[in-house]
Amino acid sequence: MTDFLWGAATAAFQIEGASTEDGREASIWDVFCQVPGAVANGDDGTVATDHYHRWEADVALMAGLGLQAYRFSVAWPRVVSADGTPNAAGLDFYERLVDGLLAAGIEPWLTLYHWDLPASLPGGWLNRATAERFAQYALVVHDRLGDRVRRWTTLNEPWCSSMLSYGAGVHAPGHADPTEALTAAHHLLLGHGLAARALRDADASASIGITLNYTPAVPADPTNPAYIDVVRRVDGTAHRLFTDAVFGRGYPADVVADAGAAWPAEAVRAGDEAVIGAPLDFLGVNYYTTEMVRAGVPAGPSPHVTAPEAEVVPRGLPTTDMGWEIDPDGFARLLGRLHDTWAGPAGVPIYITENGAACADEPDADGFVDDTDRIAYLDAHLAAVEEARGAGADVRGYFAWTLLDNFEWAFGYAKRFGIVRVDEELRRIPKASARWFAQQIATGRLGA
Ligand code: NOJ
Repeated sequence: MTDFLWGAATAAFQIEGASTEDGREASIWDVFCQVPGAVANGDDGTVATDHYHRWEADVALMAGLGLQAYRFSVAWPRVVSADGTPNAAGLDFYERLVDGLLAAGIEPWLTLYHWDLPASLPGGWLNRATAERFAQYALVVHDRLGDRVRRWTTLNEPWCSSMLSYGAGVHAPGHADPTEALTAAHHLLLGHGLAARALRDADASASIGITLNYTPAVPADPTNPAYIDVVRRVDGTAHRLFTDAVFGRGYPADVVADAGAAWPAEAVRAGDEAVIGAPLDFLGVNYYTTEMVRAGVPAGPSPHVTAPEAEVVPRGLPTTDMGWEIDPDGFARLLGRLHDTWAGPAGVPIYITENGAACADEPDADGFVDDTDRIAYLDAHLAAVEEARGAGADVRGYFAWTLLDNFEWAFGYAKRFGIVRVDEELRRIPKASARWFAQQIATGRLGA
């Protein structure tokens, strides 16, 4: 299949390590990892998979798998200092990486923000100035790499870096306040719009997109109006808030109404929604699971800031090691919806920028993992992509999450999503899924 791009994805904080080298400053995740109980086993990102030092071998690994593209993120605190000056040594690292990828025939897909905000920025995403700093940082990266990188993703999963980070308190910086969550969401989206505009002005031929995460919600009882309404509200703040905004439709009126007094009316200034709705060249979609939801009793801080009573009900489907139900049909339906509702009308292609499974891998005596469960997951979800394409969705590529076992945020290193195992000595050992994925790429076959 020639019109389809195959790749794998990672993120800086999850793989790089070298957290104080070559002028890298602290990110909010470095700080959060120090909070007792914030991350499982007290894990942190100081070493991670040591990709910062092993990038060359990692690129060779990618080339061996036949990857056509590699989605990675730049660590903002590695390339811009607290006083705003570019850090040449940090930029050198990404230049080496990009040059190495291009020499190996792998297209670099660069994400500017995958959650590792410089800890020095006052107020983090609660401060409007952070959105402006983000656009300046985007230009710093573009100044160095714009002649070689064509694919630019502004944000990865702004729902997580607002709702999980400022609403549920489970991601850095660990706040739990609905207004803060919505304020952070707005400033992240504003940052996206300002950065997209800055990049576009600097480089008319750059391809600019954003990656949003989607966990479709279905009602536990489709005849129960309370459940249908809770699904509408979950979908409102998790999906429509972000997708409507980046497709130039402004914020959905029902979400603003549901938020009521929690809506950050002063933060959303005249003209902001137009900035956020700047034209996109692609929509990145991350999908892992679909959730069945009912209206329960609110229990503690929720990322569903307009639906705190939303409660996930197991459907009895098989789950991954995250406890997430495996639902490839939900993926096909989602892609149809995204195409029909947003991407299609705007003429914007979709790329699957993440999809994959954490599995309870059991290495054999040689460290090899025969992960038939992960293969089955990937296979079924690729078949869902094919189904959605057959039904008309313009899906142009698929990035497996993830290349290497890595730092799974609040779950630390315990959860393994890699198609390549990283062992205690940080050796890379391709799993059966890596071999299988390489074959899929070689044959270009999406379905089984
Ligand atoms: C989404 C995030 O972008 C990524 O960082 C994370 O590891 C995966 N999902 C799996 O949870």
